[in-house]
Amino acid sequence: MTTEPATVAAPSFHDILRIAGCRHHFPLLRQLVNGKPLVYFDNAATSQKPQVVIDAMVKYYETENSNIHRGVHYLSERATQAYERVRAKVKAFVNAEDQREIIFVRGTTEAINLVAHSFGKIHVHPGDEILVSAMEHHSNIVPWQILCEERDATLKVIPMNDRGELLMDEYERLLSDRTRIVAVTHVSNALGTINPVKDIVAKAHARGIPVLVDGAQAVPHMHVDVRDLDCDFYAFSAHKMFGPTGVGILYGKRRWLEAMPPYQGGGDMIKSVTFEKTIYNDLPYKFEAGTPNIGGGIGLGAAIDYLHELDLGGVQQLEHDLLAYATEKILTIPGVRIIGTAAQKAAVLSFTMEGIHPHDIGTILDVEGVAIRTGHHCAQPVMQFFGVPATARASFAFYNTKEEVDAFIKALHKVIEVLG
Ligand code: ALA
Repeated sequence: MTTEPATVAAPSFHDILRIAGCRHHFPLLRQLVNGKPLVYFDNAATSQKPQVVIDAMVKYYETENSNIHRGVHYLSERATQAYERVRAKVKAFVNAEDQREIIFVRGTTEAINLVAHSFGKIHVHPGDEILVSAMEHHSNIVPWQILCEERDATLKVIPMNDRGELLMDEYERLLSDRTRIVAVTHVSNALGTINPVKDIVAKAHARGIPVLVDGAQAVPHMHVDVRDLDCDFYAFSAHKMFGPTGVGILYGKRRWLEAMPPYQGGGDMIKSVTFEKTIYNDLPYKFEAGTPNIGGGIGLGAAIDYLHELDLGGVQQLEHDLLAYATEKILTIPGVRIIGTAAQKAAVLSFTMEGIHPHDIGTILDVEGVAIRTGHHCAQPVMQFFGVPATARASFAFYNTKEEVDAFIKALHKVIEVLG
């Protein structure tokens, strides 16, 4: 597994050991499931939360809970400051230029819908084209399809090869004078492919086309620097990066966000309202209608602090080793086919077993205490491309171990015993 050259940090052996030792920070991982020690390999769906994240949210509700941006009283000011401090942390986390470029949303899906709706309203017209890739999650397909239907525009698709890598020559050919935006995932949730997003952005920018990057599967695994990538929008969710559900971030370059109309109307996104006319608030509040998930935002801040302490370079190395180990072991099992064999891969192992439905694999693994995801992973076009109805998917985090991979492989042998 590798990433953009500018973002790779070389971890020391000591760092790797220290990070591996952080597993005990995650209380949920200590439990037995069906009488067996839990092996949690469903991290791409959602990661577990360290005690510091849980504690930060409990402390917020116990001592600071109040609505933000509204009250002059002590608690409201404290909550507002705490929430806005998180915005500053997010800015530093992705290396944005300006805090006004950081919009709190419910998650990656809402971030993409916001851009499709708001950017689309002013920039997409009949005959225009939107370019997505063949490996997108439904959340980076459907919002654009809705937009295309509304605006009489066309959705174009960057194809991939049978390893699950984008065909960059085809990509360049698809960029046209009608392309209004390119929307691609940084890391594929179904295949694990790490896309060359810096290159994708550069090629689009050469033609004056902006790029949105779905970073949901990237932020827990690698350093993301939006200024280095030079992307125009970057979307991610807290819950996949050891934070809570229900909160995420849309990063957008100010010049785009300033020109875009609001996505939703309501409190906090206005400066003044009369029945004749509403003056919208400044960035970032223009896009933050209604009371946000304040407690979730506090949890996100704690998750960022936690990741900062951890060192993402070391995380990457550990996960790379785990993926290599699991890949080698799983290939010794008869009938296994790995779906997604890109040269640049994050910690996702999607596979099928000949003659056995992925749901049955998942069910037997669950009896053995091993949690994986089975299904189409909200990426049905990927399944169609590979000619499978579904896959079984093990996805790793830094807190997983080689012993857990051994338990997973043992459980797969049980699947063959029972169903093979
Ligand atoms: N998008 C999430 C996954 O890949 C839910 O599992």
